[in-house]
Amino acid sequence: MWYYRTPTVVFGEDSLSFLNTITSKKCLIVTDKVLEKTGIMDKVRKQLPDNTRVMVFSDIGQEPTFSQMTSAMDSIRSFGPDHIIAVGGGSVIDTAKVILFRYARPEMDIYDLTPLEHLGIKEAAKFIAVPTTSGTGSECSWAAVVSDEMEKRKNELASAEILPDYAILDPSVVLGLPPRQTVSTAVDAITHAIEAYVSTWRNFYSDALAEKALELITGNILTVLQDPGNTEARNSVHIGASMAGSAFSNSQIGLAHALGHALGAIFKVPHGTAVGLYLPAVVEFNSLEVGERYDRLNSIFQGPFRKDCLADTLRHLFSKMGQPTSISGATISMDSYIAAKQNLEKLAMESTGVVANPRESESGDIRRLLEAVMN
Ligand SMILES: [Fe+2]
Repeated sequence: MWYYRTPTVVFGEDSLSFLNTITSKKCLIVTDKVLEKTGIMDKVRKQLPDNTRVMVFSDIGQEPTFSQMTSAMDSIRSFGPDHIIAVGGGSVIDTAKVILFRYARPEMDIYDLTPLEHLGIKEAAKFIAVPTTSGTGSECSWAAVVSDEMEKRKNELASAEILPDYAILDPSVVLGLPPRQTVSTAVDAITHAIEAYVSTWRNFYSDALAEKALELITGNILTVLQDPGNTEARNSVHIGASMAGSAFSNSQIGLAHALGHALGAIFKVPHGTAVGLYLPAVVEFNSLEVGERYDRLNSIFQGPFRKDCLADTLRHLFSKMGQPTSISGATISMDSYIAAKQNLEKLAMESTGVVANPRESESGDIRRLLEAVMN
Protein backbone atom coordinates (compact mmCIF):
# COMPACT_ATOMS: atom_id res chain seq x y z
CA MET A 1 0.00 0.00 0.00
CA TRP A 2 1.25 3.48 -0.86
CA TYR A 3 -0.12 7.03 -0.63
CA TYR A 4 0.28 9.92 -3.04
CA ARG A 5 0.14 13.04 -0.89
CA THR A 6 -0.47 16.47 -2.29
CA PRO A 7 -1.91 19.77 -1.10
CA THR A 8 -4.90 21.30 -2.85
CA VAL A 9 -3.12 23.28 -5.58
CA VAL A 10 -4.53 26.68 -6.53
CA PHE A 11 -2.75 27.81 -9.69
CA GLY A 12 -2.64 30.33 -12.51
CA GLU A 13 -3.07 34.09 -12.76
CA ASP A 14 -4.89 35.74 -9.86
CA SER A 15 -4.75 32.60 -7.72
CA LEU A 16 -3.71 34.70 -4.70
CA SER A 17 -7.34 35.83 -4.56
CA PHE A 18 -8.06 32.40 -3.06
CA LEU A 19 -6.92 33.92 0.24
CA ASN A 20 -10.05 36.03 0.21
CA THR A 21 -12.14 32.89 0.68
CA ILE A 22 -10.52 31.59 3.88
CA THR A 23 -12.19 31.94 7.24
CA SER A 24 -9.51 33.16 9.60
CA LYS A 25 -9.62 35.28 12.75
CA LYS A 26 -5.87 35.19 13.33
CA CYS A 27 -3.32 34.56 10.66
CA LEU A 28 0.44 34.13 11.04
CA ILE A 29 2.41 35.08 7.92
CA VAL A 30 5.89 33.57 7.78
CA THR A 31 8.20 35.34 5.35
CA ASP A 32 11.71 36.83 5.20
CA LYS A 33 13.09 40.33 5.73
CA VAL A 34 13.51 41.04 2.01
CA LEU A 35 10.04 39.90 0.97
CA GLU A 36 8.45 41.68 3.90
CA LYS A 37 9.29 44.99 2.27
CA THR A 38 8.14 44.08 -1.25
CA GLY A 39 4.81 44.46 -3.00
CA ILE A 40 4.28 40.70 -2.71
CA MET A 41 3.47 41.04 0.99
CA ASP A 42 1.06 43.89 0.27
CA LYS A 43 -0.67 41.69 -2.30
CA VAL A 44 -1.04 38.84 0.18
CA ARG A 45 -2.30 41.07 2.98
CA LYS A 46 -4.77 42.80 0.69
CA GLN A 47 -6.35 39.46 -0.23
CA LEU A 48 -6.98 38.40 3.37
CA PRO A 49 -10.50 38.98 4.70
CA ASP A 50 -10.90 42.42 6.37
CA ASN A 51 -11.55 41.06 9.86
CA THR A 52 -8.45 38.84 9.94
CA ARG A 53 -5.78 39.86 12.46
CA VAL A 54 -2.27 39.35 11.12
CA MET A 55 1.05 38.62 12.79
CA VAL A 56 4.21 38.55 10.66
CA PHE A 57 7.32 36.51 11.50
CA SER A 58 10.20 37.38 9.19
CA ASP A 59 13.38 36.74 11.17
CA ILE A 60 14.64 34.02 8.84
CA GLY A 61 18.14 33.76 7.40
CA GLN A 62 19.22 31.96 4.25
CA GLU A 63 19.77 28.58 5.87
CA PRO A 64 17.84 28.76 9.11
CA THR A 65 18.75 26.63 12.08
CA PHE A 66 16.13 25.13 14.35
CA SER A 67 16.68 27.78 17.02
CA GLN A 68 16.25 30.60 14.46
CA MET A 69 13.14 28.96 13.04
CA THR A 70 11.52 28.76 16.45
CA SER A 71 12.84 32.02 17.95
CA ALA A 72 9.38 33.61 18.18
CA MET A 73 7.36 30.65 19.44
CA ASP A 74 6.28 32.35 22.69
CA SER A 75 4.70 35.31 20.92
CA ILE A 76 3.24 33.06 18.19
CA ARG A 77 1.63 30.88 20.86
CA SER A 78 0.16 33.85 22.67
CA PHE A 79 -1.16 35.21 19.36
CA GLY A 80 -2.80 31.82 18.64
CA PRO A 81 -3.13 31.72 14.82
CA ASP A 82 -5.79 29.57 13.16
CA HIS A 83 -3.94 29.85 9.82
CA ILE A 84 -0.23 29.87 8.98
CA ILE A 85 0.67 31.27 5.58
CA ALA A 86 4.24 30.85 4.31
CA VAL A 87 5.20 33.46 1.71
CA GLY A 88 8.68 32.83 0.35
CA GLY A 89 11.18 30.33 -0.98
CA GLY A 90 12.09 26.92 0.41
CA SER A 91 13.68 28.15 3.64
CA VAL A 92 10.62 30.20 4.52
CA ILE A 93 8.18 27.37 3.77
CA ASP A 94 10.34 24.89 5.70
CA THR A 95 10.45 27.32 8.62
CA ALA A 96 6.66 27.55 8.59
CA LYS A 97 6.51 23.73 8.72
CA VAL A 98 8.75 23.68 11.79
CA ILE A 99 6.74 26.51 13.41
CA LEU A 100 3.51 24.56 12.76
CA PHE A 101 5.06 21.49 14.40
CA ARG A 102 6.28 23.43 17.44
CA TYR A 103 2.96 25.27 17.69
CA ALA A 104 1.07 21.97 17.79
CA ARG A 105 3.57 20.03 19.91
CA PRO A 106 5.64 22.48 22.03
CA GLU A 107 6.91 19.73 24.30
CA MET A 108 8.58 17.79 21.50
CA ASP A 109 12.15 17.91 20.21
CA ILE A 110 12.74 18.67 16.52
CA TYR A 111 13.97 15.12 15.95
CA ASP A 112 10.62 13.78 17.19
CA LEU A 113 9.23 15.01 13.86
CA THR A 114 9.11 11.70 11.97
CA PRO A 115 6.70 10.07 9.53
CA LEU A 116 6.31 7.10 11.88
CA GLU A 117 4.03 8.63 14.48
CA HIS A 118 0.72 10.52 14.38
CA LEU A 119 1.46 13.88 16.04
CA GLY A 120 -1.87 15.70 15.77
CA ILE A 121 -0.25 18.64 13.96
CA LYS A 122 -3.02 19.25 11.44
CA GLU A 123 -5.53 20.16 14.15
CA ALA A 124 -3.47 23.17 15.30
CA ALA A 125 -3.87 25.45 12.25
CA LYS A 126 -4.53 25.42 8.51
CA PHE A 127 -1.31 25.70 6.53
CA ILE A 128 -1.03 27.57 3.22
CA ALA A 129 2.16 27.92 1.16
CA VAL A 130 2.74 30.68 -1.39
CA PRO A 131 6.09 29.94 -3.08
CA THR A 132 7.90 33.04 -4.38
CA THR A 133 10.57 31.02 -6.20
CA SER A 134 10.03 28.32 -8.84
CA GLY A 135 12.12 25.42 -7.68
CA THR A 136 12.26 24.02 -4.19
CA GLY A 137 8.87 22.31 -4.35
CA SER A 138 8.60 22.74 -0.58
CA GLU A 139 4.96 23.83 -1.01
CA CYS A 140 4.17 20.29 -2.20
CA SER A 141 6.45 18.32 0.07
CA TRP A 142 6.15 16.88 3.56
CA ALA A 143 9.84 17.38 4.31
CA ALA A 144 11.70 20.27 5.91
CA VAL A 145 15.42 20.95 5.70
CA VAL A 146 16.95 22.28 8.92
CA SER A 147 20.58 23.37 9.23
CA ASP A 148 22.39 22.00 12.25
CA GLU A 149 24.88 24.68 13.28
CA MET A 150 26.79 22.44 15.67
CA GLU A 151 27.28 19.56 13.25
CA LYS A 152 27.53 21.80 10.15
CA ARG A 153 25.11 19.65 8.23
CA LYS A 154 21.61 19.82 6.82
CA ASN A 155 19.04 17.48 8.24
CA GLU A 156 15.95 16.44 6.32
CA LEU A 157 12.92 15.93 8.54
CA ALA A 158 9.64 14.54 7.31
CA SER A 159 6.05 14.01 8.38
CA ALA A 160 2.89 13.89 6.27
CA GLU A 161 1.38 16.24 8.84
CA ILE A 162 3.59 19.18 7.79
CA LEU A 163 2.44 18.99 4.16
CA PRO A 164 0.65 22.27 3.38
CA ASP A 165 -3.14 22.10 3.05
CA TYR A 166 -3.00 24.52 0.11
CA ALA A 167 -0.26 25.53 -2.34
CA ILE A 168 -0.97 28.78 -4.18
CA LEU A 169 0.97 29.07 -7.45
CA ASP A 170 0.44 32.64 -8.62
CA PRO A 171 2.87 33.63 -11.41
CA SER A 172 2.69 37.31 -10.42
CA VAL A 173 4.84 36.64 -7.33
CA VAL A 174 7.75 35.26 -9.38
CA LEU A 175 7.82 37.88 -12.14
CA GLY A 176 10.47 39.88 -10.25
CA LEU A 177 12.66 36.92 -9.29
CA PRO A 178 16.30 37.93 -10.07
CA PRO A 179 18.10 35.97 -12.84
CA ARG A 180 20.55 34.18 -10.51
CA GLN A 181 17.78 32.86 -8.31
CA THR A 182 15.65 32.02 -11.34
CA VAL A 183 18.49 29.84 -12.64
CA SER A 184 19.42 28.10 -9.40
CA THR A 185 15.81 27.33 -8.43
CA ALA A 186 14.96 26.06 -11.93
CA VAL A 187 18.04 23.80 -11.87
CA ASP A 188 16.87 22.49 -8.49
CA ALA A 189 13.45 21.69 -9.99
CA ILE A 190 15.00 19.96 -13.02
CA THR A 191 17.06 17.87 -10.58
CA HIS A 192 13.93 16.98 -8.58
CA ALA A 193 12.13 15.78 -11.71
CA ILE A 194 15.08 13.69 -12.92
CA GLU A 195 15.90 12.16 -9.53
CA ALA A 196 12.23 11.39 -8.80
CA TYR A 197 11.90 9.65 -12.18
CA VAL A 198 14.67 7.13 -11.48
CA SER A 199 14.31 6.78 -7.70
CA THR A 200 13.75 3.22 -6.50
CA TRP A 201 10.58 4.54 -4.81
CA ARG A 202 9.18 5.95 -8.07
CA ASN A 203 5.57 5.23 -8.90
CA PHE A 204 3.11 5.91 -11.74
CA TYR A 205 1.98 9.22 -10.24
CA SER A 206 5.47 10.58 -9.61
CA ASP A 207 6.54 9.42 -13.11
CA ALA A 208 3.73 11.34 -14.83
CA LEU A 209 4.39 14.53 -12.89
CA ALA A 210 8.16 14.32 -13.34
CA GLU A 211 7.82 14.01 -17.13
CA LYS A 212 5.40 16.94 -17.39
CA ALA A 213 7.51 19.01 -14.99
CA LEU A 214 10.61 18.52 -17.13
CA GLU A 215 8.69 19.49 -20.28
CA LEU A 216 7.30 22.67 -18.71
CA ILE A 217 10.55 23.82 -17.11
CA THR A 218 13.03 23.03 -19.88
CA GLY A 219 10.63 24.23 -22.59
CA ASN A 220 10.19 27.66 -20.96
CA ILE A 221 13.21 28.51 -18.82
CA LEU A 222 15.26 30.20 -21.55
CA THR A 223 12.25 32.35 -22.50
CA VAL A 224 11.95 33.34 -18.83
CA LEU A 225 15.63 34.30 -18.70
CA GLN A 226 15.37 36.37 -21.88
CA ASP A 227 12.02 37.90 -20.99
CA PRO A 228 11.56 37.78 -17.18
CA GLY A 229 8.19 39.53 -17.32
CA ASN A 230 6.65 36.89 -19.59
CA THR A 231 3.76 35.70 -17.41
CA GLU A 232 2.91 32.68 -19.55
CA ALA A 233 6.46 31.30 -19.48
CA ARG A 234 6.84 32.11 -15.75
CA ASN A 235 3.54 30.35 -15.06
CA SER A 236 4.72 27.20 -16.89
CA VAL A 237 8.03 27.08 -14.99
CA HIS A 238 6.25 27.79 -11.69
CA ILE A 239 3.76 24.97 -12.18
CA GLY A 240 6.47 22.64 -13.51
CA ALA A 241 8.62 23.28 -10.43
CA SER A 242 5.71 22.45 -8.16
CA MET A 243 4.96 19.24 -10.09
CA ALA A 244 8.62 18.25 -9.72
CA GLY A 245 8.34 18.96 -5.98
CA SER A 246 5.28 16.76 -5.73
CA ALA A 247 7.03 14.00 -7.72
CA PHE A 248 10.14 13.85 -5.53
CA SER A 249 8.18 14.27 -2.34
CA ASN A 250 6.22 11.13 -3.23
CA SER A 251 9.23 9.15 -4.46
CA GLN A 252 12.71 10.35 -3.44
CA ILE A 253 15.68 12.45 -4.36
CA GLY A 254 19.03 10.84 -5.26
CA LEU A 255 22.79 11.27 -5.27
CA ALA A 256 22.85 14.76 -6.82
CA HIS A 257 20.98 15.93 -3.72
CA ALA A 258 23.20 13.90 -1.37
CA LEU A 259 26.30 15.59 -2.86
CA GLY A 260 24.63 19.00 -3.21
CA HIS A 261 23.49 19.04 0.42
CA ALA A 262 27.04 18.23 1.51
CA LEU A 263 28.51 21.00 -0.66
CA GLY A 264 25.88 23.50 0.50
CA ALA A 265 26.52 22.71 4.17
CA ILE A 266 30.25 23.41 3.87
CA PHE A 267 30.52 26.09 1.17
CA LYS A 268 27.11 27.84 1.45
CA VAL A 269 26.51 27.43 -2.29
CA PRO A 270 22.82 28.01 -3.23
CA HIS A 271 20.98 24.69 -3.09
CA GLY A 272 20.01 24.52 -6.79
CA THR A 273 23.51 25.48 -7.94
CA ALA A 274 24.98 22.76 -5.72
CA VAL A 275 22.70 19.89 -6.80
CA GLY A 276 22.91 20.90 -10.48
CA LEU A 277 26.67 20.87 -10.31
CA TYR A 278 26.64 17.11 -9.67
CA LEU A 279 23.56 16.13 -11.68
CA PRO A 280 25.24 15.33 -15.06
CA ALA A 281 27.91 13.18 -13.37
CA VAL A 282 25.27 11.39 -11.28
CA VAL A 283 23.23 10.72 -14.44
CA GLU A 284 26.32 9.15 -16.04
CA PHE A 285 26.92 7.06 -12.90
CA ASN A 286 23.32 5.83 -12.73
CA SER A 287 23.03 5.14 -16.47
CA LEU A 288 24.13 1.54 -15.94
CA GLU A 289 20.92 0.91 -14.01
CA VAL A 290 18.38 3.31 -15.51
CA GLY A 291 19.76 4.23 -18.93
CA GLU A 292 16.45 3.59 -20.70
CA ARG A 293 14.55 5.84 -18.35
CA TYR A 294 17.10 8.61 -18.90
CA ASP A 295 16.67 8.16 -22.69
CA ARG A 296 12.94 8.70 -22.24
CA LEU A 297 13.62 11.91 -20.29
CA ASN A 298 16.16 13.03 -22.87
CA SER A 299 13.48 12.79 -25.58
CA ILE A 300 11.42 15.39 -23.67
CA PHE A 301 14.01 18.14 -24.27
CA GLN A 302 13.40 20.37 -27.26
CA GLY A 303 15.47 19.81 -30.43
CA PRO A 304 18.01 22.63 -30.13
CA PHE A 305 19.27 21.44 -26.73
CA ARG A 306 18.95 17.71 -27.06
CA LYS A 307 22.19 15.76 -27.33
CA ASP A 308 22.66 12.00 -27.65
CA CYS A 309 22.48 11.36 -23.93
CA LEU A 310 20.78 13.05 -21.00
CA ALA A 311 24.04 14.01 -19.22
CA ASP A 312 25.26 15.93 -22.29
CA THR A 313 21.86 17.53 -22.84
CA LEU A 314 21.92 18.77 -19.26
CA ARG A 315 25.45 20.17 -19.61
CA HIS A 316 24.38 21.97 -22.79
CA LEU A 317 21.21 23.41 -21.26
CA PHE A 318 23.03 24.40 -18.06
CA SER A 319 25.70 26.28 -20.00
CA LYS A 320 22.95 28.20 -21.83
CA MET A 321 21.28 29.00 -18.50
CA GLY A 322 24.47 30.09 -16.73
CA GLN A 323 24.47 27.16 -14.29
CA PRO A 324 28.05 26.16 -13.38
CA THR A 325 29.24 22.71 -14.40
CA SER A 326 32.49 22.72 -12.42
CA ILE A 327 33.80 23.77 -9.01
CA SER A 328 35.58 26.83 -10.40
CA GLY A 329 32.33 27.94 -12.06
CA ALA A 330 30.68 27.75 -8.62
CA THR A 331 33.43 30.10 -7.31
CA ILE A 332 34.92 27.55 -4.93
CA SER A 333 38.71 27.43 -4.83
CA MET A 334 40.22 24.09 -5.81
CA ASP A 335 42.42 24.01 -2.68
CA SER A 336 39.51 24.42 -0.29
CA TYR A 337 37.45 21.85 -2.22
CA ILE A 338 40.26 19.29 -2.05
CA ALA A 339 40.73 20.02 1.65
CA ALA A 340 37.02 19.43 2.27
CA LYS A 341 36.71 16.30 0.13
CA GLN A 342 36.78 13.79 2.94
CA ASN A 343 34.16 15.68 4.89
CA LEU A 344 32.01 16.10 1.77
CA GLU A 345 32.21 12.36 1.18
CA LYS A 346 31.14 11.59 4.74
CA LEU A 347 28.22 14.03 4.67
CA ALA A 348 27.03 12.76 1.28
CA MET A 349 27.15 9.13 2.41
CA GLU A 350 24.96 10.00 5.42
CA SER A 351 22.36 11.87 3.35
CA THR A 352 18.91 10.41 2.67
CA GLY A 353 19.65 11.02 -1.02
CA VAL A 354 21.70 7.81 -1.01
CA VAL A 355 18.83 5.59 0.12
CA ALA A 356 16.64 5.43 -2.99
CA ASN A 357 19.23 6.28 -5.64
CA PRO A 358 18.84 3.71 -8.45
CA ARG A 359 22.47 2.55 -8.27
CA GLU A 360 24.05 1.62 -4.97
CA SER A 361 27.07 3.68 -4.10
CA GLU A 362 30.12 3.06 -1.96
CA SER A 363 32.51 5.67 -0.67
CA GLY A 364 34.78 5.19 -3.70
CA ASP A 365 31.86 6.05 -6.01
CA ILE A 366 31.02 9.17 -4.01
CA ARG A 367 34.68 10.21 -4.17
CA ARG A 368 34.74 9.81 -7.95
CA LEU A 369 31.54 11.87 -8.28
CA LEU A 370 33.10 14.59 -6.13
CA GLU A 371 36.13 14.56 -8.41
CA ALA A 372 34.06 14.61 -11.60
CA VAL A 373 33.26 18.30 -11.15
CA MET A 374 36.86 19.38 -10.47
CA ASN A 375 37.59 20.18 -14.12
FE1 LIG B 1 16.28 20.26 -4.13
